[in-house]
Amino acid sequence: MARKQTLVLVMIVVIYCHARLQDSYSKLQYGHRLDRKMIDSFVNFSILDCAEECLRTTRCKSVSYYKGTNYCETNYENKSSASDRFLESPGWIYSEKEDWDIDIVSSCSASNCSINEKCKSLPMGKFKCVLSDCGIPSQLGVNLSSVGRWEGIGIGRHMELECFQNYKQNGSRVFRCQTNGQWITDLICEKH
Ligand SMILES: *[C@@H]1O[C@H](CO)[C@@H](O)[C@H](O)[C@H]1NC(C)=O
Ligand SMILES: *[C@@H]1O[C@H](CO)[C@@H](O)[C@H](O)[C@H]1NC(C)=O
Ligand SMILES: *[C@@H]1O[C@H](CO)[C@@H](O)[C@H](O)[C@H]1NC(C)=O
Ligand SMILES: *[C@@H]1O[C@H](CO)[C@@H](O)[C@H](O)[C@H]1NC(C)=O
Ligand SMILES: *[C@@H]1O[C@H](CO)[C@@H](O)[C@H](O)[C@H]1NC(C)=O
Repeated sequence: MARKQTLVLVMIVVIYCHARLQDSYSKLQYGHRLDRKMIDSFVNFSILDCAEECLRTTRCKSVSYYKGTNYCETNYENKSSASDRFLESPGWIYSEKEDWDIDIVSSCSASNCSINEKCKSLPMGKFKCVLSDCGIPSQLGVNLSSVGRWEGIGIGRHMELECFQNYKQNGSRVFRCQTNGQWITDLICEKH
C-alpha cells in the first residue's frame, strides 16, 4: 500500500514537472536572438542546458540558442532592458530566465550567489558559488556598443572596446577578464 502511494506520488511529481517544462518550451521565441550582451557561450548544449546555465548565473537575464550547432549564449540583458539589441535571426531561439522554473537547478534554486557568480550543485543538496564574469566595464568614455559579436564579459573571455567619439583613446582596446574576476586593460579614454 505504501509502495503504491509512493508510486502515485512519483507519477504526480513527474507529470507536474513535465507540464512545467512544456510550459517553458511553449514560451521559446523562435527566429530571434539578443545581440552583443553576452556573458559567456557554450557548445554542445541543449536548450535545457542553456536555460539551466542562465538560472545558475546570477547576472544572466536571457539566452540566445542556435539549434544548428547546439550553441548557447547567456546574456546580461533581456529584450526589455536592451530592446535595440533584440534581432530577428533565423535558426536562433531566444528565451528569458523568468520563463524557466528555478527548481530545475536542484540545490542551486536556494542559492544566494553574488551578481558576478554562478552556482554549482554539489551532492547532498549543497551548492557552491564560483566567479562567472568580470562585470560590465564602467570606465569613463568607454563605448560598450563597440563590443564584437562574439565577445563577452565571462571569466577567460576578452572584449575589444573603443572610446566614445568625443574622447581620445590611449592604450590598446583589449579588455581581458582574468580568472580572479577583474578586468585587465590599459585603455584610457580622455575627454578632448
Ligand atoms: C561537440 O560535439 C561534437 C560531436 O559530438 C564533437 O566532435 C566536438 O568535439 C564537441 N565539442 C566540444 C567542445 O565538446
Ligand atoms: C528583463 O529585465 C528587467 C530589468 O532587469 C527586469 O525588470 C524584467 O523582469 C526582465 N524580464 C522581462 C520579461 O521584462
Ligand atoms: C549565502 O548564505 C549563506 C548561508 O545563509 C551565508 O553563509 C553566505 O555568506 C551567503 N552568501 C552571500 C554571497 O550572500
Ligand atoms: C559607439 O560605438 C558604436 C558601434 O561601433 C557606434 O556606432 C557609435 O557611434 C559609438 N558612439 C559614440 C558616441 O561614439
Ligand atoms: C597615455 O597614457 C600614458 C600613461 O598614463 C601616458 O604616459 C601618456 O602620455 C599618454 N599618451 C598620450 C598620447 O596621451
